[in-house]
Amino acid sequence: MGLPDLRIGGLCVLVGPPGSGKSTFAAHYPDTWRVCLDAYRRLATDSEADQSATPVAAEIQTLLLDARLSRGLNVLVDSTNVLPHVRAGLLARARYWQRPAVAVLFDIPLSTTEAQNAGRDRVVPVHIVREHHQMLPDADQLRREGFTAVHLASELLATPSAQRRAARR
Ligand SMILES: Nc1ncnc2c1ncn2[C@@H]1O[C@H](COP(=O)(O)OP(=O)(O)O)[C@@H](O)[C@H]1O
Ligand SMILES: [Mg+2]
Repeated sequence: MGLPDLRIGGLCVLVGPPGSGKSTFAAHYPDTWRVCLDAYRRLATDSEADQSATPVAAEIQTLLLDARLSRGLNVLVDSTNVLPHVRAGLLARARYWQRPAVAVLFDIPLSTTEAQNAGRDRVVPVHIVREHHQMLPDADQLRREGFTAVHLASELLATPSAQRRAARR
C-alpha cells in the first residue's frame, strides 16, 4: 500500500462505509493519532455497536480532537464520516484551532466493501453497508467542504502494476 504522509499537524478524516478498510489503514499510523467512535462506545457499554452510547462517544472524540489539535498534533478520525454534518463538525474543530484538514476517501467498489465487511470482526448488516456506500461523497464535494487534500484509497491500495497502468493513461 502506498501510504500518504499524514504528518500535517492537523486533522485527517477517513470517509468510508463499514468494511471499506478504514481501521486497517489507520493501523499503519501511530495509535495515539486515532480517534474512533466504535472504540469509545465499547469503553462506555462493552459494545461498539451500542448506538445509545454515540453521544458520549462523540463527546470523548471532541475532547481528544481539541486536546490534540490545540497542540498541533495529528488526529486520524476512524469512523464512517459519510454524513456531511458530521464532517462539518470535524472541520469546524480544525478551523477553530487553525489547523489543516485532509480526507482519505474510501472509494472502494460496493462488492469489495461487502466482501470485506463479511470478514470483519463485527459484521455490519449488509443494508447498512449499502446505505453508507450510497451516501459516499466524491473528492470534489470533500474539497468544496474545506478539505485541502483528498487522498483516494482506490489509488493508495492499487497494486504497483495497476498504478503504472493508471500513470500511462
Ligand atoms: N486493502 C485491503 N485488502 C484486503 N482486505 C482488507 C483491506 N483493507 C481491509 N481489509 C479487511 O477488510 C475487513 C474490514 O476492514 P476494516 O479496516 O475493519 O474496515 P472498516 O474499519 O472500514 O470497517 C478486515 O477484515 C480487513 O482485514
Ligand atoms: Mg473500523
